[in-house]
Amino acid sequence: MKRFEISVVGELNADLILYGLPPALEPEREHLATDFAITLGSSSAIFAHNISLLGSRVGFTSCIGGDPLGKFCVDRLRESGVDVSGVKTLPGKTTGVTVILPLGKQRQILTYLGTTLDLQLEHLDLNHLRSASHFHLSSFFLLRALRPRIPDLFSQMKKAGLTTSLDTNDDPEDLWADDVKAVLKNVDIFLPNEREASRLTGADNVREALDALSRLVPIAVIKCGPDGATARRGKDQFHAPPLSVQPVDTVGAGDSFNAGFLHKFMLRANLEDCLAYGNAVAALSTTRAGGTEAFRDRQHLEAFLQAANVRNSSRAPQ
Ligand SMILES: Nc1ncnc2c1ncn2[C@@H]1O[C@H](COP(=O)(O)OP(=O)(O)OP(=O)(O)O)[C@@H](O)[C@H]1O
Ligand SMILES: [Mg+2]
Repeated sequence: MKRFEISVVGELNADLILYGLPPALEPEREHLATDFAITLGSSSAIFAHNISLLGSRVGFTSCIGGDPLGKFCVDRLRESGVDVSGVKTLPGKTTGVTVILPLGKQRQILTYLGTTLDLQLEHLDLNHLRSASHFHLSSFFLLRALRPRIPDLFSQMKKAGLTTSLDTNDDPEDLWADDVKAVLKNVDIFLPNEREASRLTGADNVREALDALSRLVPIAVIKCGPDGATARRGKDQFHAPPLSVQPVDTVGAGDSFNAGFLHKFMLRANLEDCLAYGNAVAALSTTRAGGTEAFRDRQHLEAFLQAANVRNSSRAPQ
């Protein structure tokens, strides 16, 4: 039996959210928030935390600075059941942070990447990563030091017999350079959102983007926000409508979709069930602030998924 069902590599930081601010901020004025939350942030950490609470055995690899926010992030992952022995502490460096300011119907999102920029191949224990059935990496473009080594990292994971998945998230430079396509040669499941899929392929719509992606990867899944998600495997295409919810906060919905989809994939469910479960888990994430709060309340998690009529079989067959 492998030590983990899934090895995850990516960035690790906290989200600081200030609630109840006025709809517009004036320079030099002191604006008071009515509430404040520190939650686990970053795409790969939200993904690892949530797929662990769905029942997968997860090993997480990243790096943090020697500061309290880094320790907070690791503690949150550990509480969710994630194995954090692959997280390196870099003394003298600062863990990244995202400050989220909901202002009326819009949000200001400010990120300091911190140690996300420092993660290097030397920080990864390849044997540790190989001791899983599946390998997932999030936020390709933010991992600037690791980026040139990511194509080879995926190649090594495939050679070791793992299945693989990638969620690049957005490219802040919006260049979508060819090295992403080099990674895709060794990706089994690619999980972009609609905009990312269009930017990568140059396609105008989801169908065209799936046509292009189906020539690059065995399974392409495009997340379409309030329109649900569509997947293509070879010539077969499946769409799953979203759940009807009034979202409190959509932060982490895409990462939670990945968690639901891949949890089912590792249980060898068919593609339609993976999509339906991804949508349900994404909808669950929107019911509370931040990307992980809806999952930390285990009663809420169970009740929501039961009401959504998607069964959660918690362990993959050995
Ligand atoms: N308003 C909504 N109602 C129901 N489900 C939603 C809604 N918005 C998003 N979702 C669910 O969340 C999934 C992922 O959303 P989205 O397309 O925004 O991903 P993303 O842009 O990658 O998200 P992230 O910002 O977390 O990276 C959708 O496929 C859908 O299942
Ligand atoms: Mg995303």
